[in-house]
Amino acid sequence: MKQITVVGVGYVGLVTAACFSDLGNKVIALDVNEERVKGLKRGEMPIYEPGLEELVERNVAAGRLDFTTDYKSALQDSEFVFICVGTPSGVDGKADLKYVESAARSIAENMQAPLIVINKSTVPVGTGDWVAEIMAEAQPKAIDFAVVSCPEFLREGAAISDFMNPHRTVLGSLDREAADKVAQLHLQLRSPIVITDLRTAEMIKYASNAFLATKISFINEIADICESLGADVKEVAAGMGFDARIGKHFLEAGLGYGGSCFPKDVKALAFMAEEMNQEPRILNAVMHVNGLRRGMIVERLKDLVGDLDGKTIGLLGLAFKANTDDMRDAPSVDIANALMAAGATVRAFDPVAMEVAARDLPKVAMADDAYSLAEGVDALIVVTDWNEFKHLDLERIRDSMAAPVLLDGRNIYFPDQMKSLGFTYRGVGRGYNGAGEVQTEVKVPTNAV
Ligand code: NAD
Ligand code: UGA
Repeated sequence: MKQITVVGVGYVGLVTAACFSDLGNKVIALDVNEERVKGLKRGEMPIYEPGLEELVERNVAAGRLDFTTDYKSALQDSEFVFICVGTPSGVDGKADLKYVESAARSIAENMQAPLIVINKSTVPVGTGDWVAEIMAEAQPKAIDFAVVSCPEFLREGAAISDFMNPHRTVLGSLDREAADKVAQLHLQLRSPIVITDLRTAEMIKYASNAFLATKISFINEIADICESLGADVKEVAAGMGFDARIGKHFLEAGLGYGGSCFPKDVKALAFMAEEMNQEPRILNAVMHVNGLRRGMIVERLKDLVGDLDGKTIGLLGLAFKANTDDMRDAPSVDIANALMAAGATVRAFDPVAMEVAARDLPKVAMADDAYSLAEGVDALIVVTDWNEFKHLDLERIRDSMAAPVLLDGRNIYFPDQMKSLGFTYRGVGRGYNGAGEVQTEVKVPTNAV
């Protein structure tokens, strides 16, 4: 059993703390937000993440997980400290490192014995070296420490399973012994472990997020071309995905990427490139294509219902993706604001994000469920791909709407079915748009593996 301190108890920190304690370590999770820590001590989760509450409860009950705001007691007896604080976009897209800096200073001021400082926050290349400098300067007396980069690759909504079954663990350090000790902590996860230098590890994180964002912008561009040429992007993506070099993931066309990670990380990487006098042409194109998606859906709605002035539009979903209540850079906010600016009244329903969303969207009326949302609206837009939306009683939805217009920003419905139910339906990049002429079929030879 190792003793670990986790600094920053947000989406990444809380999952990291809960999972490491579940793996049998003793974990103290620290946050400067007193309300958050008090709530956690009462068993209240600050975020919605499937399975997290049970995991936290189980490990607190077993005495392996505790929460505090006090650095000194948190660091006492800990061999490892994970920094998991936010790194939001600052001026010009540069990552703002003020929380990392203050965490590094507090660790240095309060450590009482040698420590391995592991940075899990997504930070610009070179930050590990900078953290080491800050710590050395802030220590009241010199105590040995090593800095290791261990970027996190979990997705919100699937965070626990991603943490426990990572595709790989990446570790970067100039201190090989420290990196090996951190590798030991991860051995139970049985994933490939890549050990490299600090800057390379930091870059692997940005390059990975930027590549996934590139796939999304790529398929969105293909979706627009599909639509104008009469091909169906869902089938195109499926057909492409069988090629292992391409892969089937992250080829879902729709409203583009949002959330707290891709938008800020692609921007931050482009900023790093520009600072080094490089022109990030691909990253700029990725951001440009993504930036057009939210306006595109509003223009499409105008094609379907005409002038939006005086119309009532319902948004199915608000969170930036399913299975989270995270509203950071959620497409729903821009879409709702654009609809309201065009004179529409906007209503919305989201299974978990409405309380968080109400802060960003005070003028949007929140409905009790999808059915009450549909009552009397001139159109519905699917904004978030929640599973429960896929199983709605669509006839009931249709009958309660003022007009059966459904714009599917996430391609969760079948165009043919929607058409036969009498909806005026439009997805994204679905060329035949439900005309029913083609049905892609995949035949797998019986001797195929
Ligand atoms: P978050 O905003 O949910 O949580 C950050 C927490 O850190 C907050 O609770 C805040 O109060 C706390 N904090 C800030 N300064 C502190 C300090 N000095 N001492 C102690 N606590 C402090 O952030 P997040 O979404 O968990 O992201 C954290 C980092 O992980 C970011 O760099 C992000 O890019 C990266 N990341 C996030 C995800 C994700 O899915 N959210 C996935 C991989 C990587
Ligand atoms: C993403 C990465 O997937 C994680 O590996 C990474 O750790 C994390 O960022 C991070 O660095 O913080 P996350 O933002 O939680 O995770 O969610 P994703 O599932 O990647 O979705 C991001 C956005 O892309 C969402 O808005 C989603 O709707 C959109 N998306 C995703 C698409 O539009 N199409 C797709 O095919 C996939």
